[in-house]
This record gives sequence, structure tokens and C-alpha cells, in this order.
Amino acid sequence: MDYVSFPPATLLNPTPVVLVSCAEKDHPENRNLVTVAWAGTVNSEPPMVSVSLRKSRYSHDLILNSGEYVVNLVDESMCKAVDFCGVRSGRDLDKAASVGLTYCPAEGMSVAPAVDGAPLSLSCRVRQVLELGSHDLFLGEVKAIRVRKDLLDEKGSLRLEKAALIAYNHGLYQSLGNILGFFGWSVARPDVLARRMRSLQSV
Ligand SMILES: Cc1cc2nc3c(=O)[nH]c(=O)nc-3n(C[C@H](O)[C@H](O)[C@H](O)COP(=O)(O)O)c2cc1C
Repeated sequence: MDYVSFPPATLLNPTPVVLVSCAEKDHPENRNLVTVAWAGTVNSEPPMVSVSLRKSRYSHDLILNSGEYVVNLVDESMCKAVDFCGVRSGRDLDKAASVGLTYCPAEGMSVAPAVDGAPLSLSCRVRQVLELGSHDLFLGEVKAIRVRKDLLDEKGSLRLEKAALIAYNHGLYQSLGNILGFFGWSVARPDVLARRMRSLQSV
């Protein structure tokens, strides 16, 4: 196959896209939402999720001072709000009110709220901040998780594939599309494979 060389850049795609909620330490009524594509899972014990923010973001200082943030997963219905919260600053307006989203208390957090209606929200407490250059990487420990009840099946298992989550792909918001397999499917017994795939296709 033929290839061309590109200069070094951040072309790892797709990325998640999430709404991060945060608040001012001494004035928790000042809350904010910021769209983040550079969010990542970085550790499992303890569970840790990172967000990478430019120092210039209003949210950067809210998170630095409060030591808290909530990572809210987003679905297709929230896509326009997600974009808006990524192109306007909380210094200038109340973004949640502008896009019709409401805050609710986030378990385990002193000031940072969660977004009501988000499929799933991860309450994170900052453990470390790494100054990388253009961005500061906040490494947060997940202290609590809030899951929308309709995403649980009759056995209480999380069915996140029902959430219509979106991803960010080189400047575009995209839905996730078809289920192609599941963890370990390449080596699953044929009967297990057939049963699991049948149940997943009914999503
Ligand atoms: C899809 C998308 C992804 C973004 N990802 C990031 C990110 O990972 N880190 C960052 O610092 N800014 C990111 N931004 C930009 C901020 O969301 C944007 O500058 C926002 O207006 C900052 O809001 P604030 O000043 O209220 O914190 C992203 C914007 C969009 C639209």
C-alpha cells in the first residue's frame, strides 16, 4: 500500500468526547461545563480517569482550585450542547442554561455537579496535575459513579451499548454504529459467540 508522511501531531482517533462539569471552590453556585476530547482511562486500581486542559480554559482553574471534576458521558441527543460547550467559555455565560442542561449533585464531590440526564457520570478527585506544555493533564481518581437506571438490564448489569454514546473523530462527532464483536469474541466457543451476538444485535 502507498502512504504519505505527516508531521508529528495528535492524530490518535477516534477519541471520546465528554462534558466535564466543575465549580468554583468558594462559590459552588458558579458551575461550568467544558467539552473535552482528550479524556482517558489511565488506571484501574484505583480507577482513574484523566482530562487534559489548556491553562487558558475557565474550567482549568476551577478544577485546579477545587480539586474535583465530573466526567459526564454524552449521547446523540446531547451532541449540539456538547459542541456549544466546546466553543463558548463559562467566563462569558452560563453554558448549561444556554443549552438547556441542568445540574444535579454528584456523589462524592464537594462542589462539582453532575449533568442531569447524562447516561453516566464519573465523580473524580484530582490526584496529580502534570504540566505537559500546551495542556495540563489532570489525573483524577474516580470516587463515585452515577448510572442512568434505564441502562441497566433486568439483572442489574450495565448495558452501555444502549446509551447511543458518541465519539469524536478528527473534527467530527460520530455515532458508534454497529456492534462488531465483544471482549474475547475472537476466541469464544461457537455456541457462546452465536448467543452473545444474537443478544447484542437486539440493541
Ligand atoms: C469537540 C471538542 C473537544 C475539545 N476538547 C478539549 C480538550 O480536550 N481540552 C481542552 O483544553 N479544550 C478542549 N476543547 C475546547 C474547550 O472545550 C473550549 O475552549 C471551551 O470553550 C472552554 O470552556 P471554558 O473556558 O468554559 O472552560 C474542545 C472543544 C471541542 C468542541
